[in-house]
Amino acid sequence: MTEVSVTKEDVVPTGELVVLKSVNKHFGALHVLQDIDLTIARGEVVVVIGPSGSGKSTLCRAINRLETIDDGAISIDGKPLPQEGKELARLRADVGMVFQSFNLFAHKTVLENVMLGQIKVRKIDKKKAEENARALLDRVGVATQADKYPAQLSGGQQQRVAIARALAMDPKVMLFDEPTSALDPEMINEVLEVMQQLARDGMTMIVVTHEMGFARSAANRVVFMADGRIVEEAAPEQFFSNPRSDRAKDFLSKILHH
Ligand SMILES: Nc1ncnc2c1ncn2[C@@H]1O[C@H](COP(=O)(O)OP(=O)(O)O)[C@@H](O)[C@H]1O
Ligand SMILES: [Mg+2]
Repeated sequence: MTEVSVTKEDVVPTGELVVLKSVNKHFGALHVLQDIDLTIARGEVVVVIGPSGSGKSTLCRAINRLETIDDGAISIDGKPLPQEGKELARLRADVGMVFQSFNLFAHKTVLENVMLGQIKVRKIDKKKAEENARALLDRVGVATQADKYPAQLSGGQQQRVAIARALAMDPKVMLFDEPTSALDPEMINEVLEVMQQLARDGMTMIVVTHEMGFARSAANRVVFMADGRIVEEAAPEQFFSNPRSDRAKDFLSKILHH
């Protein structure tokens, strides 16, 4: 068998998968998302960075409708986000989400965590769900932990299980909101490597992270947010070597030289 190595350059983004048009959102008097226009192509990896409080998490949560928006429009694969009900559950399943805190079900085994959504939401039969779950756990490097409970795993292992669980829904796009921020330093790379591989496999990804190494090597585009706005977006090489806005320059000088 020949080994085929796929790099992000080989995965040609085709078509628009996630489209945000003039999205606005307030929390009371706080205008947390201000006229956000953002289009993410199929297979594209977008890293979102910006200071704390700039609206990155709210943006992620709006994309899978954990937060409503005040006006504007968000569509996934050509379909506008539904308001509620079955349609919404189905759409949410198309958007995989990985949070800073792993959010695994504590009283379910690792295997059950990865099987559950497949059975409940995707209506896959149990045997097939288990087969899928084992394959995914193997893919993220925790196959031997299948019968343990989340608390028996390291943070890095738990986060990889959370990624496997999201992937088990066969999502069209994966959102990662600071997936390595709660991890001890020695566990960060094992999670980033799984994400790198996903990117190489052509998954469409929106990743909020301060891991600039990941942004440089995996992102097609960096989106810089501040005060609820997209201030700047560029290819990673361009953004890191030559940020245009003062906000981005200031932010980069703080995170790169401390
Ligand atoms: N549910 C909420 N109610 C009120 N304010 C919120 C809520 N969630 C977030 N905020 C505020 O919105 C702003 C943006 O938050 P967030 O999207 O979490 O930013 P980031 O992820 O970039 O740090 C912050 O000022 C935060 O305090
Ligand atoms: Mg956040």
